[in-house]
Amino acid sequence: ENPLNPVLSPRNIAASLREYWSPRVIAELDDSYVKVARLKGTLAWHSHEDEDELFVVLRGRLRIEYRDEHIDLGEGDLHVVPRGVEHNPVAQDECLVMLIERKSTLHTGNVETERTMAISEQLKDFMPSTREPGED
Ligand code: NI
Repeated sequence: ENPLNPVLSPRNIAASLREYWSPRVIAELDDSYVKVARLKGTLAWHSHEDEDELFVVLRGRLRIEYRDEHIDLGEGDLHVVPRGVEHNPVAQDECLVMLIERKSTLHTGNVETERTMAISEQLKDFMPSTREPGED
């Protein structure tokens, strides 16, 4: 018995987040988490040694700065930050994003900042799909 996963609206969940730069896990598949976040301003320069990081912009615009260039993402755009490459997400105005990351991925990779959010916090409110119906 494997209950069906719920239908989710990543954009609505992201829009409901109260804090910026506070990713939340909304789903899991294999060894990855799907997360949403509400962004404004800049996070921090960092890299993820062993994990790629997928961004999809759900609303607004997001710039990913690299050391030698930057890329600009608009609504509906998808971009994968390759493992080991230094990057810094910048949202001049508020934007909503969906992320797919391996479960081992740390929020700000190889650096620790006042914004760094532990995976335990990112999992707050997450209901695993394996949860039995009626279980509370
Ligand atoms: Ni990153």
